[in-house]
Amino acid sequence: MIKNVEETLLNRRSIRRYERESIPEDDLRFIREAIRNTPTSYNGQQFSVIEISDQSLKEQLAEIVGQKQFKTSARVFAFLSDFNKIAVAAKAKGLDNPGFENTVDGLIVGTVDASLAMMSAIVAANSRGLGTCPIGYARTVAPARISELLGLPKGVYLVCALAVGVPREIPDLKPKQPVDLLIFNNKYGTEDMADKLLEYDRAFTDYHRNRSSNPSDEDWVGEILGYYREGMNYTMRDALKAQGYAQER
Ligand SMILES: Cc1cc2nc3c(=O)[nH]c(=O)nc-3n(C[C@H](O)[C@H](O)[C@H](O)COP(=O)(O)O)c2cc1C
Repeated sequence: MIKNVEETLLNRRSIRRYERESIPEDDLRFIREAIRNTPTSYNGQQFSVIEISDQSLKEQLAEIVGQKQFKTSARVFAFLSDFNKIAVAAKAKGLDNPGFENTVDGLIVGTVDASLAMMSAIVAANSRGLGTCPIGYARTVAPARISELLGLPKGVYLVCALAVGVPREIPDLKPKQPVDLLIFNNKYGTEDMADKLLEYDRAFTDYHRNRSSNPSDEDWVGEILGYYREGMNYTMRDALKAQGYAQER
């Protein structure tokens, strides 16, 4: 199955249940090539990907991260911010390396590159009728254990994992903020932002009430603030420092 760009982008949704089916080799090749052709800052390609097919490793990751998609999807791609490769190349050429990953912008650059690479993979996979689900908990739940398990050297940290497989569900599309709340004209903001946000919040609660699986009364603002509250306990600064990032500036 090959979907056109519009259908691929507008019908995409995160898939959390997968068939026990492998991914055709040609689809995997396409996903890898799409990842390769991701635009990157300076063409520095400050990212790498670990393609995880080993089922026992996938099960270990599912256990540590608490996300079953690791186990049930056919393949997991771990998207990494990577300043190790330039360090290796600079050393091999005897060149001085300023250690850009020590700066906030270096951290941003690697994170953006890895994120764009993940989006390339999401689009490629969905265009072949496969399902995908990003797994950000792979970054936050147990960063030291994950770095050790995947053998991440200094200069490398896991930004996000992506489960890919044959979908076993087609969940309802989640309502998103309307275009005028997301895309402003020439200048930040839109009139009646609070009213529009509350309108979206009500639409989202309706979606939660009426969705085909796991219906609930939860509102959007409450749900998101709940995630942020949980996120306040993450220890990403320490994790990044341990991987050689964000020491200064
Ligand atoms: C960076 C990132 C991290 C995510 N982490 C997780 C995760 O750990 N577990 C999960 O089930 N979904 C995760 N998601 C999926 C989001 O929950 C999902 O994209 C969002 O609810 C919107 O739904 P949709 O993708 O179906 O449009 C993540 C998405 C992104 C972009």
